[in-house]
Amino acid sequence: MKTLELDREVVEISGKYGKSKENLPGILQELVAKKGYLTEKTVRDLAKDMDISANEVYSVATFYSFIKTKPTGKYVIRICQTISCELAGKEEIVKALEKELRIKCGDTTDDMLFTLERTNCIGMCDQGPAMLLNDEVYTKMDSKKAVELIREYKSKDILK
Ligand code: FES
Repeated sequence: MKTLELDREVVEISGKYGKSKENLPGILQELVAKKGYLTEKTVRDLAKDMDISANEVYSVATFYSFIKTKPTGKYVIRICQTISCELAGKEEIVKALEKELRIKCGDTTDDMLFTLERTNCIGMCDQGPAMLLNDEVYTKMDSKKAVELIREYKSKDILK
């Protein structure tokens, strides 16, 4: 039986960090920075190289919203889903953006411009609901402001 070769980049990065499970977040973050997102092969190769199961790799990858497991849009919108933002009304924002973008939370628009996701606390709990648009933090959001913001990004992108 032919042994499939492991991705050299995966082996190099896991070797650099050390093949211990507690290094998985750092390894995965660097792989995403290099590759854009984690493919199934990357996960399988990393699991094999670290001598752990692919499920263990996936469970770490899916815990952290910044570790992408599928292609994402140019603009990634992350709505905080933790308790303060939940109580401040984040779900209304999610619903408004799903309607505006015509996607479900977790998905990407067909033009690959926007991805909509939920994330855990981003440290702006006293100014919720809070959201991230790529690296920009937006606080005290509501549905109207969020939709206007997305339209602004869209029109700026079209004007480029
Ligand atoms: S709970 Fe939303 S930023 Fe902390």
